[in-house]
Amino acid sequence: MNKGNKLYEGKAKIIYETKDKNLVIQHFKDDATAFNNLKKAKVEGKGVLNNRISEYILSSLSECGIKTHLIKRINMREQLIKKAEIFPIEFIVRNIATGSLTKRLGIPEGTNLEKPLLEYCYKKDELNDPLISREHILSFGWANEKEIEVIDKMTLRINDLLTGMFRAIGIKLVDFKIEYGKTWNKDTEKKEIVLADEISPDTCRLWDSKTEKKLDKDRFRKDLGNIIQAYQEVARRLGIMPEETNISEVNFGKTIPIKFKKK
Ligand code: TMP
Repeated sequence: MNKGNKLYEGKAKIIYETKDKNLVIQHFKDDATAFNNLKKAKVEGKGVLNNRISEYILSSLSECGIKTHLIKRINMREQLIKKAEIFPIEFIVRNIATGSLTKRLGIPEGTNLEKPLLEYCYKKDELNDPLISREHILSFGWANEKEIEVIDKMTLRINDLLTGMFRAIGIKLVDFKIEYGKTWNKDTEKKEIVLADEISPDTCRLWDSKTEKKLDKDRFRKDLGNIIQAYQEVARRLGIMPEETNISEVNFGKTIPIKFKKK
C-alpha cells in the first residue's frame, strides 16, 4: 500500500493517506514528549518497538473479540489501519495509584485500587488534556450515552485482558490510556466503535512484578535512563523482539534531548 499525503502529525506518530479512503498508514516516530511537549527527545528505536508492541497487543485483543483499527503492520515503523473518526477523549484506566492521581488527590503512591478506576480526559493540547466527567462528554456531544456505555465496557474488558497478559510475563499493569474512533464497517454498512491509536510502554505504566522497576515512559518523564532497554525488555518478555535482520538499520538506545523548558 503506497503512502500518500500526510494527513496529521502528532507528537509520536504521523498519519498518511492511502489510495483507499477508508485506510490510512500510521507511522511511529522516535520522538518522546512529556508534560505536553515541554520535555522532548529522540529516543532511537522507540518507534520500531512501539509499532511492534502495539501490533502484538492490538492483535491479541482482536483475537479476544475487541474490535480495533489495526489491519496489519507493514514495516518496522508503519501499520495499515482503518481511518477512524477519533473521539476527542482519552480513556484512562488505573489499577494502582500513581502519576496524576496521587498528585491530584493525595492518594498514596502504589495504593492498590479495589476496582479499576476509569477516568476521562478531553484531548486538547492547548488545555493540557484536562480531566472531565461523563456529563461534560454528554453536554458537549463528544460522545453519546450509548457510545460511552459501549466504550466503558470495552475498556474494562481490555483492562482484564491486558492485566492477565502482563501478569503472565511478570509485569503489573499499573494504568494506561486508550483512544477510540468510529470506522465504517463495509459488511454491516454501519459505523462501529474501534480501539484506535496505540497501546505501548508510551501509553501504559508497566512495573516489574517483583522489583516494581518501571518498564515504561516514566523512565523518560522522570529521567531514569535506559528507556529503550526497558521497552526492549517488555518486547522480549512478550516474545516479540524486533526482527534481527533489520535491527542494524536502527540506532538503538541513544536518547537525544531536544528541549526541556521549565514551566
Ligand atoms: P497520568 O497519571 O499522568 O494521568 O497518566 C495516566 C496514564 O495515561 C499513564 O499510563 C500514562 C498515560 N498517558 C498517556 O498515554 N498520554 C498522556 O498524555 C498522559 C498524560 C498519560
